[in-house]
Amino acid sequence: MSISPDIEIRTATIDDLAAVFHLGEKIFTSQEFSNLYRTWDEYEVTHLFNSEPEHLLVAETEERVVGFAMGTVIEKARSAWNYGHLLWLGVDPCFSRRGIGSLLFDRFRDIMLSEGIRMLMVDTQADNDPAVNFFIRKGFENPTEHVYMTLNLRKETESR
Ligand SMILES: CC(C)(COP(=O)(O)OP(=O)(O)OC[C@H]1O[C@@H](n2cnc3c(N)ncnc32)[C@H](O)[C@@H]1OP(=O)(O)O)[C@@H](O)C(=O)NCCC(=O)NCCS
Repeated sequence: MSISPDIEIRTATIDDLAAVFHLGEKIFTSQEFSNLYRTWDEYEVTHLFNSEPEHLLVAETEERVVGFAMGTVIEKARSAWNYGHLLWLGVDPCFSRRGIGSLLFDRFRDIMLSEGIRMLMVDTQADNDPAVNFFIRKGFENPTEHVYMTLNLRKETESR
């Protein structure tokens, strides 16, 4: 992996939001990322920016946003543990395998550590080999597959 020397990782400002959103549209196409419970839309970006701006990071080179990391803190009732959930991590495909995802993740992890988070979580589809490899390389363990099911309520009503 050759690390791009001119990459700056920083927290996002309001001026970055459109760039983050459009980059996410390019990366998280619904065909490839068909997670049922999460879809990429502008509210993902604006909501997080409003609620936890310190957890929205961008990677910038030559005044261009080429990657981002977005996460949230989950506090569990009656638990001494709190969790960091890295919700979205994306790197412009033109800049992949240059260590940018790694830089973004490292900064995100450092921020979480400084906030006293004890456990980080990520999720992605089981067949997303680049991401699964990436996260294993970053030290994540115990990949577990989930089963998503749907119930078509309209069909059910019609058959009654
Ligand atoms: C996953 C992703 C963020 C990685 O970003 P990146 O900047 O290309 O990653 P890095 O260059 O830091 O790679 C670090 C390591 O991850 C692994 N990795 C990254 N991309 C990989 C790929 N396409 N295939 C296999 N392993 C890969 C490798 O071990 C790599 O180290 P190496 O290049 O020395 O072999 C990027 O591929 C991406 O945006 N994917 C689409 C969105 C996504 O799936 N996000 C994660 C879930 S939200």
